[in-house]
Amino acid sequence: MGLFTKKTPHTAGEVDRSRLPRHIAVIMDGNGRWAKKRGLPRTAGHKVGAEVFRDIATYCKELGVEYLTVYAFSTENWKRPADEVSTIMGLLEQYLHEAIDTMEKDHIRLRFFGDMSVLSPELQALAHRTDDISAHYDGFQANICLNYGGRAELLRAAQRCAERGLDWTEENLSANMYSAGIPDPELVIRPGGEMRLSNFLLWQCAYSELYFCDTLWPDFTRQELDKAIIDYQRRDRRFGGVK
Ligand code: FPP
Repeated sequence: MGLFTKKTPHTAGEVDRSRLPRHIAVIMDGNGRWAKKRGLPRTAGHKVGAEVFRDIATYCKELGVEYLTVYAFSTENWKRPADEVSTIMGLLEQYLHEAIDTMEKDHIRLRFFGDMSVLSPELQALAHRTDDISAHYDGFQANICLNYGGRAELLRAAQRCAERGLDWTEENLSANMYSAGIPDPELVIRPGGEMRLSNFLLWQCAYSELYFCDTLWPDFTRQELDKAIIDYQRRDRRFGGVK
């Protein structure tokens, strides 16, 4: 075989449900551009983006993926115009109200990663309530990253280890991350055409498979998720070793 081999062409194929990633993480990017292309305000893109999140979460649960982590609002997103920030917060509130109403039926465990202390008292209360109500569910879990930054999370974990007099070990740092007790994501998906992590799950993504696509998040479908999972299932994961 030569140095330069042809890439295998992508054929749709089928998701192998016996080899699913346990944890999928998604950077829901492209809402603003989706809206702009249609002559709509950016907030319209976030509204559709929130619907797509609902559908993709439902689909992950149906497929048998155990954890879905989404980047809803970063520590840097406060720089956005006030109306955009308040729309995103409003969408989250709306989602949490709905989640509370349907929790007994859906059994979705909801957790939040990020510094919630600066969010509105209403949003904090809703987040605590959903966290409490769903704490005993042991099926599908959705983690919503809100006012989240990967570096801030690492610093927080280091500070917590120092305060508790813990040794500097990977186990202790992991146990003091927001994601404590959750396996690292095997697959990280970023729609929207950009190829970077943007301060998302920096610790947890050390060996994640990254999947980028041009589709903007509001256009992301169950078929796109299938494509990402099929792509992941074709990869050779070596974790620094050889096979
Ligand atoms: C990135 O796209 C998207 C965000 C910063 C916000 C994502 C939030 C939601 C989809 C709503 C959250 C709601 C729930 C229920 C989880 P962008 O605005 O940066 O897009 P652009 O790159 O095209 O400008």
